[in-house]
Amino acid sequence: MGLWMYVLVVVLGPGSLKFQATSADRSFSIDYANNCFLKDGVKFRYISGSIHYFRIPPAYWKDRLLKMYMSGLNAVQIYVPWNYHEPLPGVYNFAGDRDLEGFLDLVANLGLLVILRPGPYICAEWEMGGLPFWLLTEPDIVLRTSNPDFLQAVDKWLGVLLPKIKPHLYHNGGNIISVQVENEYGSYFACDYNYLRHLLAVFRSYLGEEVLLFTTDGTKESELRCGTLQGLYATVDFGLDENVTEAFGKQRIYEPKGPLVNSEYYTGWLDYWGEPHSTQNATDVAQGLQKMLELEANVNMYMFQGGTNFGYWSGADYNENTYNPITTSYDYDAPLSEAGDPTDKLYAIRTIISKFQVLPAGPMPPPTPKFAYGYVPLPERVALLDILGLISPSLPFYSSFPLTFEALKQPHGFMLYRTLLPHDIPEPVQLTAFQNGVHDFAYILLNGVYRGTLERNRVHGVNISGKLGDTLDVLVENMGHINFGANESDFKGLIHNLTLGSIILHNWLIYPLDIDSAVAHAWPPTTTTSNGTTGPAFYTGAFTTPNISHDTFVKLPGWNKGQIWINGFNLGRFWPARGPQQTLFVPGSLLNSSALNTVVVLELEVAPEMPRVLFLDRPLLNGTSHSVDRDVTNSSLHLAMEPLKFADMAVREKKVELLP
Ligand SMILES: *[C@@H]1O[C@H](CO)[C@@H](O)[C@H](O)[C@H]1NC(C)=O
Ligand SMILES: *[C@@H]1O[C@H](CO)[C@@H](O)[C@H](O)[C@H]1NC(C)=O
Ligand SMILES: *[C@@H]1O[C@H](CO)[C@@H](O)[C@H](O)[C@H]1NC(C)=O
Ligand SMILES: *[C@@H]1O[C@H](CO)[C@@H](O)[C@H](O)[C@H]1NC(C)=O
Ligand SMILES: *[C@@H]1O[C@H](CO)[C@@H](O)[C@H](O)[C@H]1NC(C)=O
Ligand SMILES: *[C@@H]1O[C@H](CO)[C@@H](O)[C@H](O)[C@H]1NC(C)=O
Ligand SMILES: *[C@@H]1O[C@H](CO)[C@@H](O)[C@H](O)[C@H]1NC(C)=O
Ligand SMILES: *[C@@H]1O[C@H](CO)[C@@H](O)[C@H](O)[C@H]1NC(C)=O
Ligand SMILES: *[C@@H]1O[C@H](CO)[C@@H](O)[C@H](O)[C@H]1NC(C)=O
Ligand SMILES: *[C@@H]1O[C@H](CO)[C@@H](O)[C@H](O)[C@H]1NC(C)=O
Repeated sequence: MGLWMYVLVVVLGPGSLKFQATSADRSFSIDYANNCFLKDGVKFRYISGSIHYFRIPPAYWKDRLLKMYMSGLNAVQIYVPWNYHEPLPGVYNFAGDRDLEGFLDLVANLGLLVILRPGPYICAEWEMGGLPFWLLTEPDIVLRTSNPDFLQAVDKWLGVLLPKIKPHLYHNGGNIISVQVENEYGSYFACDYNYLRHLLAVFRSYLGEEVLLFTTDGTKESELRCGTLQGLYATVDFGLDENVTEAFGKQRIYEPKGPLVNSEYYTGWLDYWGEPHSTQNATDVAQGLQKMLELEANVNMYMFQGGTNFGYWSGADYNENTYNPITTSYDYDAPLSEAGDPTDKLYAIRTIISKFQVLPAGPMPPPTPKFAYGYVPLPERVALLDILGLISPSLPFYSSFPLTFEALKQPHGFMLYRTLLPHDIPEPVQLTAFQNGVHDFAYILLNGVYRGTLERNRVHGVNISGKLGDTLDVLVENMGHINFGANESDFKGLIHNLTLGSIILHNWLIYPLDIDSAVAHAWPPTTTTSNGTTGPAFYTGAFTTPNISHDTFVKLPGWNKGQIWINGFNLGRFWPARGPQQTLFVPGSLLNSSALNTVVVLELEVAPEMPRVLFLDRPLLNGTSHSVDRDVTNSSLHLAMEPLKFADMAVREKKVELLP
């Protein structure tokens, strides 16, 4: 090993000729003769980390980037999620938390370079891998292929996105040194080279001939075969489970010369609901990095800061013919935690980096303060069915048989399917989802009374009895369109008929729900509140913060499953009953220290007898509700026993030590 040398390399290969032909002072290219990148004509190697602006509140972008810079990185790698920026066909949003160019400028101001991965497909454990749901309103579309409907939408989007990117390219005075085309395309079933060729031509036509375009794939033969294309530099991705020498050997089959690149070196891993929290040993991660740097490889660490799947943005994998939704936290056991704090892993990585390049002077910013605001009661309850008019303001659709979310242009969240029992059912019979046709959860109510839940791949029937004309409501939850697996055409809602015993139910009223608008702009509802704990219902409360609004973590003790909003912002899905995630990250930037902060919980199944949430000063990402509840109650007994002022939405300001 040795200090990375900035040697001026003079070669007469194609890369350097290109460099001379374009700009005397700013260029980025490949030196095939010396197996490295050239930046401004000088040998260059990047040590980069992935960060997703769409998983971090904008108020914290700069803080996270500064910490990455102070870790010794010289580049960051970012995805661009198409569906975040084009929510409906032809409707574009690049403002506020979607200000991609503002984010790129922040990165540039810190002196970091950018490796951009604009898709159009990104995976990223993000809703539908970044593809817009509305592509599926054309049911026969074949995603990620040269299917004309797909290409037409892609071309229109890239025609908007890529012109914004062009001025940010390195040789144009910006900081983007390279651009990835598609994403792990070799893992997709289609293996459609015409699609990759088409993308290559479109990227070239908007970005020009000079920019370095590349692909990233796993190291399996089939992945590299279907994911690579002449004209796109082939890179690989792999983690600790692979032998570094052998993995780069796979890249060498496709790129015999040129820089070694691991575009996704895994610092941790994602979490699925119902499986233990993933972690990756810090020492091992740091040692793996060292091995690659010793080979003079370029490395991007995925993730360096994971962040949060706020709202409905979490995706789902499709493994072993089973739908596996991703948790709200995207902590990833990354060097910077979900809340943006440096971890031991960060320091271990930084120490390794310091052996290869000079670290910036100055201290690493310390962790941001966290605050345990304690318990907040949620005394106002209103059943979801009682405010159907508020959350589904337009008339319901009528259809003989169920229609999908996509058919009714419902992007995410929930739709309600309502019908009447066609005859008396004195003895319980099964309400069944034909062919596993509930995507992804269905909460069943009869005359407003909760009767049970159907779950994709897991629970196929609920017993029902009742009378002719009873109202059957089926609230269907979209848990995220599949982002990785064989096929991303994952239609939502009731995608097949429901049967009751032997008969197919028909004559449905279908209510698309826009809960988020109501919670943000029309809350609390004026409807009379109701008692009870079962069935889909909203629970509302409020709290004040002391003089300053710190980051905090909200726990849902005794709750089952649903969504939670703070001041109208959708923090994401909670599901402590399934775990492992027990708390949701609440950025202090959402809280207001000079006003009441409103908490709204939508519980889909059964709420606790005492509806309240608990704000902690640390996350709980690995547990089941049972085990974790015991710990918390145990160490905060004094708090739990104090009387709760339900009536006036009691406010707590006292800092409480909840956990050792
Ligand atoms: C990695 O693979 C190389 C080549 O096959 C081998 O020489 C080396 O021992 C392996 N390293 C480890 C840690 O297994
Ligand atoms: C998470 O919890 C499971 C089950 O208790 C345990 O097996 C696993 O080791 C834990 N993982 C971490 C990272 O703590
Ligand atoms: C990480 O692995 C090292 C050995 O590589 C071991 O000494 C250490 O205890 C491990 N740390 C954790 C937290 O498991
Ligand atoms: C549902 O009803 C059937 C009889 O129709 C019965 O065999 C079955 O055990 C019931 N299932 C449940 C979960 O109650
Ligand atoms: C993809 O999924 C859709 C919807 O389930 C299905 O119609 C289509 O046949 C699938 N395509 C492939 C190639 O599996
Ligand atoms: C539901 O059943 C009807 C009648 O058999 C059939 O025409 C229709 O195609 C079915 N719908 C779905 C989505 O399977
Ligand atoms: C809820 O329960 C309380 C206490 O039992 C009762 O006073 C109140 O009238 C009930 N409210 C409704 C809407 O049923
Ligand atoms: C903020 O509140 C804390 C106690 O909650 C107090 O110690 C501190 O002085 C306050 N700061 C300001 C600026 O009021
Ligand atoms: C906080 O609340 C005050 C009082 O309602 C309001 O004037 C102010 O705009 C709010 N600040 C933020 C950041 O929401
Ligand atoms: C928590 O409860 C367990 C038993 O339930 C007990 O062993 C432990 O000492 C308690 N911890 C604290 C901090 O009270």
